Amino acid sequence: MTHDYGEFSFESKDEVLAKAREYWNPGKTDFWVESGVPLVIDRREDYFIYDMSGKRLLDVHLNGGTYNLGHRNPEVAAAVAGAMAHFDIGNHHFPALTRTALAEALVKTAPEGLTKVVYGSGGGEAIDIALKTARHATGRRGIVSIVKAYHGHTGLAVATGDDRFSKFFLSDRPDEFVQVPFNDLDAMEKALSGRDVAAVIMETIPATYGFPLPEPGYLEGVKRLCERTGTFYIADEVQTGLMRTGELWGITKHGITPDILVTGKGLSGGMYPISAVLLAEHAAGWLTEDGFGHISTFGGAELGCIAALKALEVCNRPETRSMVHYISDVVGRGLREIQAELPDWFVGIRQNGVVMGLEFAHPQGAKFVMRHLYDNGVWAIFSTLDPRVLQFKPGILLEPALCEELLDRTAVAIRRAWDEVRGADRHRISA
Ligand SMILES: Cc1ncc(COP(=O)(O)O)c(C=O)c1O
Repeated sequence: MTHDYGEFSFESKDEVLAKAREYWNPGKTDFWVESGVPLVIDRREDYFIYDMSGKRLLDVHLNGGTYNLGHRNPEVAAAVAGAMAHFDIGNHHFPALTRTALAEALVKTAPEGLTKVVYGSGGGEAIDIALKTARHATGRRGIVSIVKAYHGHTGLAVATGDDRFSKFFLSDRPDEFVQVPFNDLDAMEKALSGRDVAAVIMETIPATYGFPLPEPGYLEGVKRLCERTGTFYIADEVQTGLMRTGELWGITKHGITPDILVTGKGLSGGMYPISAVLLAEHAAGWLTEDGFGHISTFGGAELGCIAALKALEVCNRPETRSMVHYISDVVGRGLREIQAELPDWFVGIRQNGVVMGLEFAHPQGAKFVMRHLYDNGVWAIFSTLDPRVLQFKPGILLEPALCEELLDRTAVAIRRAWDEVRGADRHRISA
């Protein structure tokens, strides 16, 4: 059957996979096929994605929260479609209607003290802007992040993260970028003691590391150390922002006002790429000194601003907040029931709102569960930097009936994965 999409067509899914391998990315294409997840997303709607084969999947990967409000959220889609009659990307050199309106909306809903907004087109670019800003304002070069941090793959962001990605492209810079273990305040204190560090950058809950939760007082302790040493605290809220923890910004649950806050992914409801960096006044000097200090043609694209204005408004509704509390309560409780049945396999649940990491007793445990979930109609992804842990990220508007469906499907998949792992282990032992 020909799949005809107007501008292009394919004879079959096999043809897409073959051409993806040939023209796009052979490594990624092969990885997914070999992992038993040969997904080519075709139709997408609400919290569902459909493979080209027609297979329906309930999406709890959401690209790290990009589809927080569901795929093609009708309100966001309508806002962007309507805006296309008037706006395009715009000219990034000039003040703009939409950029100004979104900046005002972000500042008004941000933690106290964040007063200026700089735009990017993706999370990594926004992180680079945050790091450059901290360096400019402090006159220092050092950047401290945690081991297994993930802040993106652009020039500076990649140097804050795992060696797997930074060394690969010779982009590691150990002299300027220092990493300390998560939840270790002594190590952080040592790293900051030379007073030559511009910023500590922290995901409020480290996503790609599998959402290990900060110990009580840890982030607050980091902030105090920053204040004592004149170091900026950059909150990476790319995955924990936009109501996913039950507050618009996860960092406010810790009573912390960061010097810089970074948001992206779900900011524009998955309809148009945009990211934003919110700066405290004492960080924002460069915007006055040389407003052209950072330039990005697509940063703050006006259609993205329109999408973001709508997405932010939806996230901020009181009924959305109530939904998050309902979903996190129901799904959290259901997961604990599944865990109680299989305590030797399903060994941990990390949860803050709808930010969840499910921990399994096998070094690659989440990959087994991911594949059984896929077979059983749910799409959730393993944590790249700790594949024992499955990232489980329900949307913030997930209807009650879909919460139940998610739990039923997940219970089956977790049991099947356990059967497989036990079988595989028996096999390995006898081999
Ligand atoms: C916490 C965090 N920060 C930054 C990024 C980088 O965002 P992007 O992929 O849009 O560059 C990501 C991406 O997954 C992320 O999870």
